Amino acid sequence: MTEPKQILALNRFEAGRAGALGGRLGALVEKRQRCFGASSVLFYEQPLEIARAEGVFMYDIDGRPYLDVYNNVPVLGHCHPAVVAAMSEQAARLNTNTRYLYENLTTYAETLLGTFPPVLSNLLLTCTGSEANDIALRIARSRTGGSGFVVTETAYHGNTSAVMEISPSSYRKGRPLSAHIRTVPAPDSFRLAAGEDVGEVFAGHLEQAIADLERNGIRFAGLVVDTIFSSDGVFADPPGFLAKAVDVVHRAGGLFIADEVQPGFGRTGQGHWCFQRHGVEPDVVTLGKPMGNGYPMGGVVTRPELLEGFCAETGYFNTFAGNPVAAAAGQAVLDVLEQEGLIANADRVGRYLRDGLRRMGQADARIGDVRGVGLFIGLELVGGGGAPDAALAGLVINAMKARGVLIGAAGAYGNVLKIRPALCFSEANADQFLAALQDVLRQG
Ligand SMILES: Cc1ncc(COP(=O)(O)O)c(C=O)c1O
Repeated sequence: MTEPKQILALNRFEAGRAGALGGRLGALVEKRQRCFGASSVLFYEQPLEIARAEGVFMYDIDGRPYLDVYNNVPVLGHCHPAVVAAMSEQAARLNTNTRYLYENLTTYAETLLGTFPPVLSNLLLTCTGSEANDIALRIARSRTGGSGFVVTETAYHGNTSAVMEISPSSYRKGRPLSAHIRTVPAPDSFRLAAGEDVGEVFAGHLEQAIADLERNGIRFAGLVVDTIFSSDGVFADPPGFLAKAVDVVHRAGGLFIADEVQPGFGRTGQGHWCFQRHGVEPDVVTLGKPMGNGYPMGGVVTRPELLEGFCAETGYFNTFAGNPVAAAAGQAVLDVLEQEGLIANADRVGRYLRDGLRRMGQADARIGDVRGVGLFIGLELVGGGGAPDAALAGLVINAMKARGVLIGAAGAYGNVLKIRPALCFSEANADQFLAALQDVLRQG
C-alpha cells in the first residue's frame, strides 16, 4: 500500500511572520490569526489584501492590478456583470429553501443536464464540491454494498470527514490511510518509463489496489478521480487514457466517479466536461467551484436508478442548494459560456499559451514539461537529472506576484505550476503572463 502524499505548502504565508510584516498588513494578518487560529491559511510570503476584481484581474487596496492565472472559480471572469445582475435581481425577488416550486430551478437543471450524455439524466444539488463528493461516495456504497475506494496518491476531493479520507494530499505527515482506502500513482506521463502506456500502467495499478482491498475482505465500491488530476500535477494526455481504468472499475463491480469540480464547465476547451476527453461514461459526476462563478454551488449528476437507490436508503435535504439565487447564478454561467464562446476561447488561447511555454522550455532546461488542455495547464519545473524542483516553483510563484501575476503550484512534489485563468483569458493576457515568467526565469 502506498503512503499518502502531501503537497508541500510552499506558497503559504508562515504564521510566525505576522509580526515582521508591520503596518496595516501586519495588523490585519494578526487579527485574522487571532480569529481563525491554526485554520488561517494565506497565500504568498507577503499576503495580498484584495479590494476588488473584474474579468481576469484582481486589484489590491492600492489599486494595483494582478493578472489572475490561478483562480478557477470565476470561470467567466471575476464579477461577470451577467451573473451579478442575475443574482441581484433574483435576490431582490425571492430566495428561499428548495422545497417550493420555482421555474428558474427546473429550467437550470434542464440546461445543465443537456450538457451531459442522455443516460446521466438526474441532478442533485449541493453548495460545495465536498458535499457533492460525499453524496457520490454514499451512492457508490449504497449501489455496491462495498466501502472500498481507490484514489490517486495526491488526490484532493474535499473536506467532509468521508471525503477527507479520499484526499491524501490533505493528510498531515504520518497520518495513515483509512483501512478502506487505497491509493494509486497518478497517470504521470512525464515520469513514465520509455515504452510504457500511461493508460495501461494506471489501469494495472488500479487492478492491484482492488485486489488488495478484496484480499483484506473489503468490497470495492468505486474509483474517484479528478478527471484532470489537478492536485496530482495536471495530467490530460493522451486523450482516452482513462478508458482502460473505467473498464477495470466496471468489471470489478464498482462505480466510476468523475470529479469535475476543477476541470468542468468548459475549462478543457472541448465540451463542458473533461471525462468526454477520455470517451468514458461515468456513473456519477460531481461538480463545484465554477458552477456559480463565485456563488457557492455544487452538484451530482447520475443515472436515475443510482439516485433512487440512494434516496431509498436516506432522505436528502439541503437548505441552500439549488435555491432561486443559485439557480439564477448557475443559469447565467451556462448562458454566458455559450454567448461569449468561452469554451472555444479556452481551446484557442490555451494552445497559444502552451506553445509559448514550450518555446520557452526549448531554451530553458528547468522547464521539464508543459502539459494540459484548454486553459488548464501544468508546467513542471525540474532541476538536475529531471528531479522535481519545488523550491524553484515557490520562488517563481512569489516573483510572479511581485510582477503582478498570480499562479499556484500542484503535484506530489509541489513543483508543477498550475496555470488556470478565467476562460475569457486573451492572447494579450497570455503574452503578459509569458513575459513575466520569462523575466522571472531569467533572473532566477
Ligand atoms: C477536485 C476537487 N474536488 C472537490 C473539491 C472540494 O470542493 P469545495 O471546496 O467546494 O468543497 C475541490 C476543492 O478544491 C477539488 O479541487
